[in-house]
Amino acid sequence: MVGIFDSGMGGLLALAELRRIMPDADVAFFADRRNAPYGTKSREQIVSLAKRDIDILRAFGAEDILVACCTASTVYEDLPDGYRRGVIPIIDATAYAAVAASESKRIGVLATEATVRSGAFSSAIGRFCKRAFVRCLARQDLVGAVERGADADASLEDALRLFGDVDTVILGCTHFAAFEEKIKKKGFTAVNSARIGAEMLSERASSGKALTLYINE
Ligand code: DGL
Repeated sequence: MVGIFDSGMGGLLALAELRRIMPDADVAFFADRRNAPYGTKSREQIVSLAKRDIDILRAFGAEDILVACCTASTVYEDLPDGYRRGVIPIIDATAYAAVAASESKRIGVLATEATVRSGAFSSAIGRFCKRAFVRCLARQDLVGAVERGADADASLEDALRLFGDVDTVILGCTHFAAFEEKIKKKGFTAVNSARIGAEMLSERASSGKALTLYINE
């Protein structure tokens, strides 16, 4: 069985991607709605939430676990060895995909406050391409909009304007997978962290069936 966790909707968007590429997988899914949003929490709080999320999914029998949350993925290096085993963070692969996709190597990162504060995307992109220009924007309001299913067009357009002449935008919060089509329509290449996570998980996992859903309120 594989596991997926996030603070909420971003995990469901990753789960939808996994279902598309691996329809028969046994999945344990956890949305930690009680502690959402993660993006406004301190690094220490995020580490302790990530450990607890991994414990919950292991208790359900999950072996390979996708951190379907960029915010939680930024603290992967802070997790003790036992917690990292079989656990898949999504920052590096998403950064790599953006570098590969960008022609100008001018890349925008749309993410949570904690993710931007961590500098994780900028340093990963810098490792893959020294000459890349990176502009990170923290848009925590968009996380809330996706959770509520609210109209976020004005805020999203404002963010895209602030990116200036980047050609590629990293959806650096899995919730923002909900904006992929809108961002593409504005002429950007969109790099979807939720899909990249699901692809990594499917590469690691074997096939099965059942779905265990646990959402705490
Ligand atoms: N979906 C998450 C992420 O990728 C967390 C959003 C939040 O809870 O602030 O960062």
